Amino acid sequence: MGPKSYPFIGTTLGTMFKTRPERYIYMRSLAKRYGPLYRTWMGTHPVINMTDPRHAELILSSTTHISKGVSYNFILPWLGDGLLTSQGAKWFRHRKLLTPAFHFKILESFLSVFIEKSEILVKILEEKADGKTAFNIFPYITHCTLDIITETAMGIQVNAMSKKVNSYAEAVYGICGEISNRTTKALLSYDFVFYKSGYGKRFLEYLSTLHGTTNRVIHERKSLRQKHNINQEKENVDDFGRKKRQAFLDLLIDVSKDGAVLTHEQIREEVDTFMFEGHDTTTASISWTIFLLGLHSNVQEKAYQEVKSVFQDKNTLEFADINELKYLERVLKESLRLYPSVPAIARFTSEDLKIDDYFIPKGTTVGIHIMDIHLNPKYYPEPEKFDPDRFLPENSKDRHPYAYIPFSAGPRNCIGQKFALMEEKVVLAYLLRNYKIKSTQTVDDINPTVSLILRPDKGLYKREIETTCLKCKKYNRIRIHSTDYCSYFGL
Ligand code: HEM
Repeated sequence: MGPKSYPFIGTTLGTMFKTRPERYIYMRSLAKRYGPLYRTWMGTHPVINMTDPRHAELILSSTTHISKGVSYNFILPWLGDGLLTSQGAKWFRHRKLLTPAFHFKILESFLSVFIEKSEILVKILEEKADGKTAFNIFPYITHCTLDIITETAMGIQVNAMSKKVNSYAEAVYGICGEISNRTTKALLSYDFVFYKSGYGKRFLEYLSTLHGTTNRVIHERKSLRQKHNINQEKENVDDFGRKKRQAFLDLLIDVSKDGAVLTHEQIREEVDTFMFEGHDTTTASISWTIFLLGLHSNVQEKAYQEVKSVFQDKNTLEFADINELKYLERVLKESLRLYPSVPAIARFTSEDLKIDDYFIPKGTTVGIHIMDIHLNPKYYPEPEKFDPDRFLPENSKDRHPYAYIPFSAGPRNCIGQKFALMEEKVVLAYLLRNYKIKSTQTVDDINPTVSLILRPDKGLYKREIETTCLKCKKYNRIRIHSTDYCSYFGL
């Protein structure tokens, strides 16, 4: 069952001439009409779509169907064979290699960076909050998460927050849009059409900016290591001769053995993957949470009281405090349920498969609709309602384990989920401690769009933030323009 299909373009006629927000509504309407299991055709390639956690579990928990769907091919010129897109033995080797870079002990050492960047963000917003100035908060969050990922994982400082525009962030946004166009306009899926079109030309321009930036990041880290005579091989052994844990890029550089084990290109593919996954997802999640907090003053007040009691008289958060931000964690979880940064993922079936009464042949793409799973009324009564208490242990203990999968699940789940939740808690705790947020648009006013990441279309950030500065106790109001958002991201 599924929408009508045509030669060469498959079922993409329904999305081909639609704007991005219209495409989002259309895709969701297909899920409602044909779900929980339905077929679409991406050009000439079959796709089985899933909106039920029971079906998602069969795919995600499998160690057989771990290759990504064909739509990921459009990301390959950018992320190459990095962890997100690689498969088979290479994926397994790299996953094993990189997992220790996200160990609890490493995360603990990142806390000071999360705090420092959050404090800078608060300071920058404080300067803008003069009661009259209009500005858009989205780029501020983007620049903050970029500063965090480059300093923690890559070991270099780019100080994105000190600049107004960041060409890397703009290029990420642009390239995601072009990749999304390829999945919804079937003719663009053919390379010979795409690269001759304006879409393809823009894609190549963005690509050159992105690879230029990540090459520079690797080069800078290597120079820094040379300058400070950092010999990781020696320094990564503790007093007892045991191997110490290393941050991400140092680990890659050391393992590479000057190109003998990992080439420069292979390192760059991983850096591209982690720079993208490590900032765009968290930006969306923090921004959607701000939007929801701004709509629900009771939730915001409760979260603020928790932050206040965790800080007490201290000026800074400590590692043990992060665990105490339990309500804020529920707020974040609920926000990721309603607005999952990654709203859909896909796998490629490596063997024939039977689900319920249906036969799915080897070589099919399976689309797992995280967004629709999260809004399934069978698992979430009043699914559109924002209610962080859904994630109280007593309210979630009987829920299907695959009914909440913002970080996916199983062997190819998100490697950075602990990093993400910790970073988001810290940034939001510092924002809540200093600012009171109010959104002037409702959920019905905003237009979510999917371009790899679930983002708000132009309208979301047209809102006001009321702030009371803790230092000067002055009450401020910041208006955030949709037009700023448009010009920044070239929408
Ligand atoms: C709110 C924040 C985040 C969300 C919602 C999120 C979500 C996801 C999802 C759904 C996947 C599965 C993708 C797929 O199957 O195609 C994934 C994979 C991945 N994520 Fe995240 N992510 C977040 C933050 C991060 C961060 C901070 C990092 C790195 C620092 C990261 C790195 C990765 C990587 C490398 C993969 C591929 C893992 C593999 O295939 O082995 N993510 N993420």
